[in-house]
Amino acid sequence: MTMILAIETSCDETACAVVKDGKEILSNIVSSQINVHTLYGGVVPEVASRIHVENISAVISEAVRKAGVTMADIDAIAYTQGPGLIGSLHVGVQAAKTLAWTFHKPLVPVHHLTGHIYANAFVADLKFPLLALVVSGGHTELVRMKDDWSFEVLGSTMDDAIGEAYDKVARVLDLGYPGGPVIDRMAKTGQPLYRLPQPKVAGELDFSFSGLKTAVLQLVDREHRHGNDVKAEDLACSFQETALRQLIGKTLKAVEEFEPAMLVLAGGVAANSRLRQMITEEMAAYPETELVIPPMWCCTDNAAMIGAAGTVAWKHGLTGDLTAAADPALEMPGEKS
Ligand code: KG4
Ligand code: ZN
Repeated sequence: MTMILAIETSCDETACAVVKDGKEILSNIVSSQINVHTLYGGVVPEVASRIHVENISAVISEAVRKAGVTMADIDAIAYTQGPGLIGSLHVGVQAAKTLAWTFHKPLVPVHHLTGHIYANAFVADLKFPLLALVVSGGHTELVRMKDDWSFEVLGSTMDDAIGEAYDKVARVLDLGYPGGPVIDRMAKTGQPLYRLPQPKVAGELDFSFSGLKTAVLQLVDREHRHGNDVKAEDLACSFQETALRQLIGKTLKAVEEFEPAMLVLAGGVAANSRLRQMITEEMAAYPETELVIPPMWCCTDNAAMIGAAGTVAWKHGLTGDLTAAADPALEMPGEKS
């Protein structure tokens, strides 16, 4: 049996979880700062790290209490080392190191995206070779895993992450932060009537979303200058259809090329209802590849997913030490540079 206490503070959620055997969640406490950052229209890094400092001790105590364990039951402390906001990461890293030192526990540094991928282990037995579509506020990547804890980034975004594009488009339309869930909702009542460009990207499996975001900004600007109203529902729908067509087109290309046993979605944008619907429809044509869509609660940032990835890393002997520091640009294990 393996009992991991996991800490996640890479962006604007202060989170701690206790995970047994990489599969069973004994507690999963997430303290969101969204209400504060909404006031500013996005995450303010300095504010985020201060709130992490205020909340981290209570979040850890609550996770241990709720799990019904004591620190003596914990085998190792897993924590998000990166990527993310440096000040935010730093708080989690210091908390993890303090616990490790005080209670004489090994440390397991975890890459945030491996956490998003292994969140799927809570709802399915992962099958390899596996393909993961990782879509969040900071990342858009296609990752191939030939085996457990083996990562190969097949493609990634050349500019903005897809979640970032959702957030920026929402800002232009005055819809608040985070933009993804609002655009998701609004698009349901709109039509894809606005024509938006698909990018030309050199890498077959690479992505680009900044041109699309700029096209939306220019369209809104142009319509306003001409005294025309922009129908927000239609623009949200047009943006979403264009962005998701790119995402799904490249994912299907990778499925055809690599014939994975399993395709998993991961990251905050995996909560998108239209993405979930489109990928389910499209993957019906590939019965050899099992599709796993994580439940909503494990799409956005949480510490249970870091516990799931941390358990696998721990089993592979990938422990760290007290000299470890937060790394905002941490590369995935095996990532091409
Ligand atoms: O994984 P996550 O919680 O944090 C990062 O690691 O970035 O992802 C947050 C991102 C935000 O950009 C947010 O707008 C987006 O996920 N998001 C969505 C939806 N829910 C969250 N995007 C589209 N549709 C959604 N329903
Ligand atoms: Zn994330």
